[in-house]
Amino acid sequence: MRILGIETSCDETSVALLEVKGGRADVTKEMTASQVLTHAEFGGVVPEVAARKHVETLPAIVRKMGVGPDDVDAVAVTRGPGLITSLRVGTDFARALAYGWGKPVIDVNHIEGHIAANWIGKDPEGAFAFPAVVLVVSGGHTELIAMDGFGSYRLLGATLDDAAGEAFDKAAKMMGLGYPGGPEVSRRAEKGRSGVFDLPRPMLAKPGFDFSFSGLKTAVLYTLGDRDEWSDTDIDDLCRAFEDAVVDVLVTKTVKAAKETGAKTVFLAGGVSANRKLRETLASAVTERVPEDACVLPDLKYTTDNAAMIAMAGYFRAGSGGRDGAEAMEPDPNWELGR
Ligand code: KG4
Ligand code: ZN
Repeated sequence: MRILGIETSCDETSVALLEVKGGRADVTKEMTASQVLTHAEFGGVVPEVAARKHVETLPAIVRKMGVGPDDVDAVAVTRGPGLITSLRVGTDFARALAYGWGKPVIDVNHIEGHIAANWIGKDPEGAFAFPAVVLVVSGGHTELIAMDGFGSYRLLGATLDDAAGEAFDKAAKMMGLGYPGGPEVSRRAEKGRSGVFDLPRPMLAKPGFDFSFSGLKTAVLYTLGDRDEWSDTDIDDLCRAFEDAVVDVLVTKTVKAAKETGAKTVFLAGGVSANRKLRETLASAVTERVPEDACVLPDLKYTTDNAAMIAMAGYFRAGSGGRDGAEAMEPDPNWELGR
């Protein structure tokens, strides 16, 4: 089974070919064009600009990859959630391609794609034990989801305001760091010292599995207002305090969810799963506090938006047949899993 994945939900134009053979899912070709430099100028993603870039780039990527109808059994595309204009380009392109090639087209939920990234390079049928808990942390989502198997989701909790990635990006902006802020804050946090600044752990003591990051953002703003001069070292220390607080809340709630639901596996998914501190802290917390559980982290390469994860989710969804390429497919910017 060979699936061509297409991802254009935000500011990455990505295409990947995934082959499932002999009990393993492998990426055989992939290409991603990042628009990050284009949007950096504006300090955030400009939806219309993103869509126009996808229009230019998508056909060029497929041509450059040299993929044709003989290489592909189905086309999988992100139908949501994401920016409506960007999603529209991807879904229309995928439908046209599938129609022209006479292949089915499978619509994929972007968050399910992030979760599916954990299966790349593994056996799609038997790699992990269920039930599981997955912590989804991206630019638009922060959710704890209970999974009985791939495709079966129950939302345990979600952020009441900002997503974890969004909080990283906003904190970075306040500290005068570049866009996107997550990678920059985590780079500086590695140089910073723990305990120099004290930031709150929102929702940590509250029951349930919801999150809130806007208070933490405000705490960063007040801390910054406390003095006029900020050296590079001070900013490193503040980044460290911020990362410590976010990671502490995420890991504590995830471990609690794993214990309460009797999970056998804990998955991490989404762009913020590129954060080294989060990866290390979650893995060691699971090992120490729920030793019967396995902690599964996506390959670093497939943490942020990419089409390989969309192809992987498309593989799991292919069982339901997919659509005829000519069929309409309405992008859904608010498509939520398990709600
Ligand atoms: O999943 P993703 O690529 O896009 C969405 O679906 O939203 O996530 C992007 C988010 C951004 O907010 C970015 O700042 C954050 O992931 N991010 C990080 C790191 N790398 C990316 N946050 C913290 N540490 C990182 N190393
Ligand atoms: Zn994403």
